[in-house]
Amino acid sequence: MRIAVLKERAPGETRVAATPETVKKFVALGAAVAVEEGAGEAASVSDAAYREAGAELGSAAGVVKGADIVLGIQAPDAALLQGAKPGAWVAALFDPFGYRERVDVYAAAGFEALAMEFMPRITRAQSMDVLSSQSNLAGYKAVIAAADGYGRAFPMMMTAAGTIQAAKVFVMGVGVAGLQAIATARRLGAQVSATDVRSATKEQIQSLGAKPVFVESVAGIEGEGSGGYATEMSEEYQKAQAELVSGHIARQDIVITTALIPGRAAPRLISDAQIATMKPGSVIFDLAVAQGGNVEGSAADQVIEKHGVKIVGYSNTAAHLAADASALFARNHYNFLSAFWDKAAGRPVLDEEIGDAVRLTRGGEVVNERLKG
Ligand code: NAI
Repeated sequence: MRIAVLKERAPGETRVAATPETVKKFVALGAAVAVEEGAGEAASVSDAAYREAGAELGSAAGVVKGADIVLGIQAPDAALLQGAKPGAWVAALFDPFGYRERVDVYAAAGFEALAMEFMPRITRAQSMDVLSSQSNLAGYKAVIAAADGYGRAFPMMMTAAGTIQAAKVFVMGVGVAGLQAIATARRLGAQVSATDVRSATKEQIQSLGAKPVFVESVAGIEGEGSGGYATEMSEEYQKAQAELVSGHIARQDIVITTALIPGRAAPRLISDAQIATMKPGSVIFDLAVAQGGNVEGSAADQVIEKHGVKIVGYSNTAAHLAADASALFARNHYNFLSAFWDKAAGRPVLDEEIGDAVRLTRGGEVVNERLKG
């Protein structure tokens, strides 16, 4: 059983799919682990640390040769996988809706693509969920980046020279990233408010000491729906939401937007006209910028200044916390594979509930229900 870990090749990707900690654990399960030289460099993990943990180091072609499983953050180009065993598993982020061609290439090459972003939202898969682990860090980083771009302080400060007011922070979208953004902004001493379309988040907002701001005139999403995800809202709701936001954001110093709808472009939450109502010096961090953006005019990895307001967003926010993001992603991979480890077979054997959810390709075919029809 050979597990290969490649250096990430996507521009701006700093993370790595295994750490010395997870290498050690895979070795303890009886696997051989091969890591490409320099794979951990951008995440502050040296080749020596991998070697010490029991990994073999080598070139990309060398580590992939004879691999049963390849671990990645973002799925590698299939051309890099030449030499892996026929039917080898590749567990990584595939962005299956955004890069459908890649799924077809994997199928044609005979690999079994396991999309980590399709991990079902069930209790026993929580420790395997890369969207949660990475969103949590992204929510934290969004607040830190916004604070950095803001020309004032977050906490109220009473000084001999006078009092500084606490910053007002508004978080739009209270999933995993939004909850961490609220908690981080609160820790920094800001006055925080937040909104979501799912009414179940109201209590969560309050329990973090923030103020819920909700559309009351039109029904939102009552329950947790399918896997706790949001759906696209009615036109009537969107209109009511826009009115509510207009009144509220004019009084905010920082806005963090995190709203996503799986498989669709991110919903537009803030228009240019609304930005114009904000105070000069305010900062908006658009965490959804890579999925089309929640904010009109936001652009990935650029600071856009409009009406005196800075609009910031990273294409890959978790990659700005390379070491911690890698540590958690690597543990998600380990928790996933080890949960299904079959001692007799000396390899993981997936069950239907999780296997069918994450598996995109098998035996030359695209097999995932979400990609069919
Ligand atoms: P997400 O990243 O898909 O979306 C972020 C947030 O944006 C969500 O809260 C969503 O309701 C909100 N949103 C969408 N459209 C909006 C709009 N027009 N206006 C305002 N907000 C909007 O969500 P995420 O972070 O993946 O979490 C969704 C839910 O799944 C949460 O309740 C979370 O607790 C749950 N979850 C469960 C897991 C498990 O049981 N294994 C693992 C991870 C999350």
